Amino acid sequence: MVSRVIPVDPFDLVLFGATGDLARRKIIPGLFHRFVVGQIPPGARIIGAARTETTHDAFVQLIRESLEEFVPKAASQGAEIAAFLETLRYVCVDAAGEAGWRDLGQHLRPEAVRAFYLSVSPALFGAIASNLDAHQLATPESRIVVEKPFGRDLASSQALNADLRGVFDEGQIYRIDHYLGKETVQNLMVLRFANSLWEPLWNSTHIDHVQITVAESLGVEGRGEYYDRSGTMRDMVQNHLMQLLCLTAMEPPSRFRPDAVRDEKVKVIEALDPVVPTNIVRGHQYRAGSDAEGYRDHAGDPQSLTESFVAMKVNVGNWRWAGTPFYLRTGKKLRARTSEIAIMFRDPPHMIFPRIEGRRGNALIIRLQPDEGITLRTTIKEPGPGGMRVAEVALDMAFAEALGPHAEAQDAYERLIMDVIRGDQTLFMRGDEVEAAWAWVDPIIRRWEEDGQAPAPYDVGSSGPEDALMLLHRDGRRWREIQV
Ligand code: BG6
Repeated sequence: MVSRVIPVDPFDLVLFGATGDLARRKIIPGLFHRFVVGQIPPGARIIGAARTETTHDAFVQLIRESLEEFVPKAASQGAEIAAFLETLRYVCVDAAGEAGWRDLGQHLRPEAVRAFYLSVSPALFGAIASNLDAHQLATPESRIVVEKPFGRDLASSQALNADLRGVFDEGQIYRIDHYLGKETVQNLMVLRFANSLWEPLWNSTHIDHVQITVAESLGVEGRGEYYDRSGTMRDMVQNHLMQLLCLTAMEPPSRFRPDAVRDEKVKVIEALDPVVPTNIVRGHQYRAGSDAEGYRDHAGDPQSLTESFVAMKVNVGNWRWAGTPFYLRTGKKLRARTSEIAIMFRDPPHMIFPRIEGRRGNALIIRLQPDEGITLRTTIKEPGPGGMRVAEVALDMAFAEALGPHAEAQDAYERLIMDVIRGDQTLFMRGDEVEAAWAWVDPIIRRWEEDGQAPAPYDVGSSGPEDALMLLHRDGRRWREIQV
């Protein structure tokens, strides 16, 4: 398969928080990869902006070390690294104060695409936006990129949106949900809307239910304090799982254009019924096994009631989906790192063959990570004598096998940063989308905070609490195993 890299024009990318963890781990290595394949021209400028008083040389050295640490082939890419480092500049800027803004302006070229990437605490979004405005660095064409957490409830996300919109138009604001940058998540749209096979079946007449699982084997590790203030509902469900749900449930957009796609996603969120308490299981914190660390080994507060697992039954209240529940689950320290969307089809209306013991029925499994691919569970005749016996088999396609080495997924950030430079907002969340998601999630979190329910732990390495299994059992269904 041929790689088709289309170079972008030279640009000025200002990276606020350039010495921070996300920048060093993801953003800079992502830019480097795009540079190596020739998508970023040598004339581009990547301007690190941070509070730290440091010299240009020390910054370049820090970035060199980050590349050596986080780019797997760095040892053999000395020449490319040297060329990439030439694109770097550094400016010491006080986000909320006066210092550094004039210097920053001197690095920006009037003719180049200009993007400001805020890899900093959301508490600084407003101050940075107004300083960019006050120092006339934000032009009508420039772009601003922000990362989650985008608020912790509806009110705070509205306030952040208002801060950004005070300076930038919605068409200039790029809100990152890195799940949308994943190849397999984008493939969901292609699978649905570039094949004629699925659309006639993609509704409650043919689909019994949908399971969306994002299981993580890692725990909260060094992020205990942040996580404890956030919890799974805010950290994963309001954003990543909501995006997967939207892409699975949305109507076909009329065009593959930013607002056509995002309009359809917002409609899904707005169609979600409120979740009644019996349809949600809040897994409170994994507990340690003999050789594993538990949640409370990392959370600052030993009395913490923050959840690290959520399972829920969600109804999308519209014509397509009435009667077809979506079951979502996600959690830390589960059996394995597996993300998938399982579309479980209804049984044939009349079965003329003997029933198979433990039959599970037709299913389309879209594996998002790892081992990206698609499985279609089908019923066939079991070969050989013994009457007309039937068996279930998997038609299995691993993308890496089917598409060869180019199926090697690029990191989500690489795709997203290039989309910012190209000015394509399709894979970014629009303000009303984020707010609609908070409006749906807020009452759930508020109810938890009010009832102060006691924690119900689950074991490290399990599939979550028992109650999560019951959520499906009582509907006569069962979760797919979390595949190791
Ligand atoms: C982040 C969450 O947004 O996504 C983390 O803050 C989570 O808690 C991570 O671990 C999962 O991302 P991925 O790409 O590893 O599935």
